[in-house]
This record gives sequence, C-alpha cells and structure tokens, in this order.
Amino acid sequence: MSIAILADIHANLEALTRVLEDMESRGVRRIVCLGDILGYGPNPRECLKLLFSSEVAILGNHEEAVMFYGEDFNPKAREALEWTKDQLNSTAHERTENYDLWNFLSTMQQVVEDGDVMYTHGSPRIPTREYVVPADSRNHEKMAGIFELIKRVCFIGHSHIPHVYTSDMKHASPDALGGAIDLRKLGDRKILINTGSVGQPRDGDPRTSYVTFDGNIVRFHRLEYDVQTTVDKIYAEPRIPNFLADRLLVGR
Ligand SMILES: [Fe+2]
Repeated sequence: MSIAILADIHANLEALTRVLEDMESRGVRRIVCLGDILGYGPNPRECLKLLFSSEVAILGNHEEAVMFYGEDFNPKAREALEWTKDQLNSTAHERTENYDLWNFLSTMQQVVEDGDVMYTHGSPRIPTREYVVPADSRNHEKMAGIFELIKRVCFIGHSHIPHVYTSDMKHASPDALGGAIDLRKLGDRKILINTGSVGQPRDGDPRTSYVTFDGNIVRFHRLEYDVQTTVDKIYAEPRIPNFLADRLLVGR
C-alpha cells in the first residue's frame, strides 16, 4: 500500500489541503510527515490537526524551536515563531484542544527507521539542523558520512528543494528523472530523497511538492494550489513578515 511523504508544510493550509485531496484521489491514506508542519505560515493549528493521523511524525527544526528555543532564528523569524506559539496557546480555543496540539508535538521523533527505509528532517547526521542541497554532491566527504548512516533509502526535507542523491555521488532533480524513480534499479547503491516542501517550495516552482511511495517507486507530485489565499492571510497578520508571503508566489 502506498504512503504519502510530506515535508515542510509550514502552516500553509491551502497547500496541505490540496495535497490531501490529491492523495485521496490516488487512494493514498497513509501519511509520513517529515517535520516543519508549522512556522512561517498562517495556519499552524489547522495543519497540525490535519496531520494528527500521520503514521510517522518527524520533528522539524521549527517544531523544536516552538517547544524549546530558536537560537538560530533571526529577529523576523523569531517574531513569527512567537506568533505561532501564541496561536498554539490561544485562549480562544478549548484548553484540551491546545493540549492535543502540544502532545502531538511531543510525540515527534528525530529519526524513524522502517526496515531499510529511514525518515528524518534534515539529514541522518544532524536531524533538525543539517541541510543537504544539490551542491553537496561535490562534497564527497559530507555525502559519504551521510550515506554511512543509511541502510538503503532515506527521505528528508528541510532544504525545501525536491531532489535525489545516490551513494555513487550522482544527483538529479525530479524533472530530470521524469518525476519518478524505481528503487529496484539502484542495485547496491543507497539513495537520499528530498520530497520538496508542501507549503514553502524554494526551487523556483511555487507549486506544492510531495511524494508517494509504494515500496518500489517514488513519485514526485507538483500541484497548483490557492496560493493567493495563503498570501492574503499572511499580509493580514502583522506579526508574520510580508516577505514570507511574497516568496510563496515565486517559490523562492
Ligand atoms: Fe522547513
């Protein structure tokens, strides 16, 4: 049975509901969430609730920052972070509902392994911190260190750039792969797959990004969604910086 793997939702309800609809149309109901459900966007509560049923819920750096601290957040990102915290503690909602949100956050894990498939947010080395980006393919030492920790397949988010990396130091965009990759063709190579970002794509394509996985084939999906509604919500909230809306329109 296929699973959907979602990363970096960033409180973007319109993008998340678009992905959930698309999953539904494909008959996919199982969700693995790779973290950063909240942060940046205007609907943290709603996005958390929609993902309560995730089979795997990985801790992102934004969840970590909301629960503990955001030491490496700049002042603008910190203000959005404080706004997010206030939303989760909002007295406009039942206290038990707020507890449910915080309880869900507290169940999130840094790394989950299911047989030879691993799930984490940033990288297996430093789960909520380390980025892997296409330029890292030239950094053989870094990539070898990461692949050492992977049994066969690892799904990540964090950079918001959908991409595929293999242990023979090759890499490719989903487009270059025709939107899908058959893991049976890897031989004894290992693979690291960034699913892209549901709610804040940064590869120059503003469409929402996620993957489905049936155990053999990983399919990348890009979908248009009602980005203007998300943008308008951010503009309407003075504590979320406007540039977080502007970037959604261009996928940067
Ligand atoms: Fe993120």
